[in-house]
Amino acid sequence: MNPSFRVPRHALLRDKLTRIRRRETDSATFRRVLAEIGAILTAEILRDLAEATARIETPVGPMEAPILDAPEPCLVAVLRAGLGLLDGARMVLPDAPVGHLGLVRDETTLKASEYVVRLPRDLATRGALVLDPMLATGGSAVQAIARVKQAGASQVRFACVVAAPEGVRALQAAHPDVPILSAALDERLNEHGYIVPGLGDAGDRCFGTE
Ligand code: PRP
Ligand code: URA
Repeated sequence: MNPSFRVPRHALLRDKLTRIRRRETDSATFRRVLAEIGAILTAEILRDLAEATARIETPVGPMEAPILDAPEPCLVAVLRAGLGLLDGARMVLPDAPVGHLGLVRDETTLKASEYVVRLPRDLATRGALVLDPMLATGGSAVQAIARVKQAGASQVRFACVVAAPEGVRALQAAHPDVPILSAALDERLNEHGYIVPGLGDAGDRCFGTE
């Protein structure tokens, strides 16, 4: 795989993913653990944000301490399932503005269509982290990132929980400049466009609409 795609080797992340993969996990637990995964992925994909230093006083003495050199990136949740990751991402970036992109896949054609766009104004200066747990055919992510770029974002990152090889290839081909972080790379898509073994329908499991 092209180096723009990365799966971090992280025991906590892997354990949490196994919890939400389990068929018997209820919706409340699924949502809570998905948020925890969102916090870990957000911290991991933003580890290289530019830093500066500031002169501060600790209770014991002065020091030159690292700080972020720029405002926090905008968070963009791809509805619905991206909202589950957003809850955790906001724990890590409480001051980041949040955008919402509503996309839904047609179950037969697997093409995504857009039903809502609410994006922050300062995407150009802050950059954006697009959040969606599932990268299946890649259609939704390709479309979401195109929208975010169209709104002015120059630096865009994408975090997901489970990726299929087909989706990674499609996203890398459409947006080679976008780093992709996923908690796992699964085997393939099935005939219905679901990731195998995957975790089922992330939106339905998150919102109890199965
Ligand atoms: C799911 C998922 C992604 C998309 C991935 O959303 O959250 O957005 O499918 O599939 P793709 O890579 O083939 O485009 P869905 O369209 O089911 O909407 P939902 O989150 O509202 O359930
Ligand atoms: N969307 C999901 O929620 N799950 C999949 O496996 C594929 C697309």
